[in-house]
Amino acid sequence: MQVHIVPDAAAGGALVADLFEEVIREAGEAGAVLGLATGSSPLTAYAELIRRHRERGLSFAHSRAFTLDEYVGLSGDHPQSYRRFIHEHLVDQVDLPASAVDTPDGAAADPDLEAIAYERRLQDAGGVDLQILGIGSNGHIAFNEPGSDRASRTRVVDLAPSTIADNARFFRDPSQVPVRAISQGLGTLAEARRIVLTASGAGKAEAIAHLLEGEMTDQWPATALQQHPQVTVVVDEAAASRLTRSDTRHS
Ligand code: GLP
Repeated sequence: MQVHIVPDAAAGGALVADLFEEVIREAGEAGAVLGLATGSSPLTAYAELIRRHRERGLSFAHSRAFTLDEYVGLSGDHPQSYRRFIHEHLVDQVDLPASAVDTPDGAAADPDLEAIAYERRLQDAGGVDLQILGIGSNGHIAFNEPGSDRASRTRVVDLAPSTIADNARFFRDPSQVPVRAISQGLGTLAEARRIVLTASGAGKAEAIAHLLEGEMTDQWPATALQQHPQVTVVVDEAAASRLTRSDTRHS
């Protein structure tokens, strides 16, 4: 894994945006397949991509995109749905056609079937060229909570109590916080051709230490990425604060 420790979120966003720009330019008119994530971690990268679109003409017109996950029970227009999030923070501000952005349908009558169908749509698109990931404080990626199988595919998952607690701040009524999600699996994520994981703040330091210096274990799901040949990790000093090996700090 290639590790970049950056001074602040803006520097991290620029590095991540560079990777997106490279993949989009390499794909040309054939169009890149972008893997998008929600949460606060990717926001500086999305802001930088929007800036490059407006000021430098970076175009997403030929790209397609797939998101990682969606809450079961929320329709795509719910204010807290991940579909709404990705449209608001990126898609609606660049020239990526809305019809080229796929998210699991959290309001599907049968979420298990929707998960299988979503996995198939992703495969049919030829898989993801560049996937951006955040990381949960418990080491989850997408909604692959501790205990997730490394071979897992897109499926309905139960959220960990710590994730439900982390998410509660976004909902006025605690009883409205979703407890299940449709999430790409660790096996699905492993097939992305390139991955960039970004994290900031001391709350992520333990998860980042496990990812970069720990044993591969299903108790820290992000450690599954240790097997992937093309992973870039972009962290700030606080998220890097529990790294101890000098080779990780200077790779
Ligand atoms: C949610 C998402 C993850 C994301 C995580 C961290 O649980 N399912 O994909 O990485 O939150 O969020 P944040 O970036 O806001 O810390």
